[in-house]
Amino acid sequence: MELKARSFNPVTVKTDCLALLVPSRSDLGEAGKAVDEATGGLLTRVLKAGELKKSGDTVSAYAPAGLAAGKLLLVSAGDKTPDNREFVKLAGKVATGLGTSKSGALCLDDAVASDRDTAWCAEQIARALGEAAYRYDQTKSSKEDAAALRKLQLQSGGGRESAKLNAALTRGVAIAEGVNYARELGDLPANICTPGYLARRARSLATKHKKITTRVLNEKQMRELKMGSLLSVTAGTDCPAHMIVMEYKGAPRKTDKPVALVGKGVTFDSGGISLKPGAGMDEMKYDMCGAASVFGSLVAAAKMELPVNIVAAVPAVENMPSGRATKPGDVVTSMSGQTIEVLNTDAEGRLILCDALTYVGRYKPRAVIDIATLTGACVVALGNHASGLFSNDDNLADALLASGEAAGDRAWRLPIWSEYDRQLKSNFADMANIGGKGAGSITAACFLARFTREYQWAHLDVAGTAWNTGAQKGATGRPVPLLIEYLSRQAGG
Ligand code: BES
Ligand code: MN
Ligand code: ZN
Repeated sequence: MELKARSFNPVTVKTDCLALLVPSRSDLGEAGKAVDEATGGLLTRVLKAGELKKSGDTVSAYAPAGLAAGKLLLVSAGDKTPDNREFVKLAGKVATGLGTSKSGALCLDDAVASDRDTAWCAEQIARALGEAAYRYDQTKSSKEDAAALRKLQLQSGGGRESAKLNAALTRGVAIAEGVNYARELGDLPANICTPGYLARRARSLATKHKKITTRVLNEKQMRELKMGSLLSVTAGTDCPAHMIVMEYKGAPRKTDKPVALVGKGVTFDSGGISLKPGAGMDEMKYDMCGAASVFGSLVAAAKMELPVNIVAAVPAVENMPSGRATKPGDVVTSMSGQTIEVLNTDAEGRLILCDALTYVGRYKPRAVIDIATLTGACVVALGNHASGLFSNDDNLADALLASGEAAGDRAWRLPIWSEYDRQLKSNFADMANIGGKGAGSITAACFLARFTREYQWAHLDVAGTAWNTGAQKGATGRPVPLLIEYLSRQAGG
């Protein structure tokens, strides 16, 4: 898809679809006025008829007389200037509306979000178009039609403004690419997307991008590193586990301290011996969405050439029951030396993350962020609107919250107080892997916090946000937008 900001005349622009954001109050913007005049008052009549009352209402007209465009798409921006979140929704409407045309021209007019500038709006438009183009068809015999849109021009004042908008469009395209990469990995079934498959995808990223290198540790190497906690999760499966380590070197100096991203990569979570109930178990193919978001973020960072260093660690395992599987009550020793009583083999995410978190300490990271579909309790607490955020550092937490807000990919912070940590007490090991009744997301985070004392750390529980259930079942690519916003702010832009 080719996206370009340039100055054009909406009346004479040759395009399959001219899209216009229109305020529902009567004072039209410049483009709106011009189109209204050229069409003999079409906009005024549509507005009078009340067809564009609510923000997001759309009206389209084919072969509109007076315009060179093949189709006119009007999207209502509501009766006041939309805020960030509304604008993101509007961008989605515009993307859907434009999806069936081959070429489009878009005028935001004066409907730009009140608390952001036009560049931010352009980024959202590019993101929405990119994300709307996602089709999962790898395991379908009839491939769905790809989005038709090949070219979009975005109205701009020209010159310096166009350059700024074009940079924003490029950012948006890169984020959408990262989001879609993560969605695809998430949507792939667990018989294709195995730990070995993730390792191959990581290697191919290194082949594609000059600034990415990949190293994959096998089980023997992990045994040598004493990752007994991670290995206890993979005991019951026939699929070999891998610790995938990718490095992106984008900072001016290769030696700049990296941000570490650690993604839970359970390619299927049956629960193990603490077997999950059957209903909805297919959705546990999504238990590697944390890992997928780490992959997606690297893809976007590389595409945007973000000037930061990133080290990404993905512990990739399958959690299955068998005669060799870990049993409730087994005690394992983590890489940190701390022992863990595995009271429930379905609390496996923390068991693989703790060893990965210890491992990334070697990179002297300036911050560590882990992303995991960690607890069903997080879905109960926050639903699918916000990811759960936990951190041992207020500045890091605030930066992540602000990034999520700006990217339309919000998180909400929960505490990790010592009162909760005490719930992890075990009679037979340094800690248990579950915290009993109550505050399941928090006790899971408290468990991780015991392995992250040496550095600034945050944990994002994306159990509720990483995929949609029901008729629209599918991965969302969250929290790639939040992470990219955070990383670009780290890079000073
Ligand atoms: N992957 C699940 C968490 C999950 C469940 C995410 C449902 C999204 C939807 C995780 O490994 C798990 O099973 N957690 C247990 C923890 C419990 C045993 C303490 C849970 O949430 O039930
Ligand atoms: Mn589980
Ligand atoms: Zn899990």
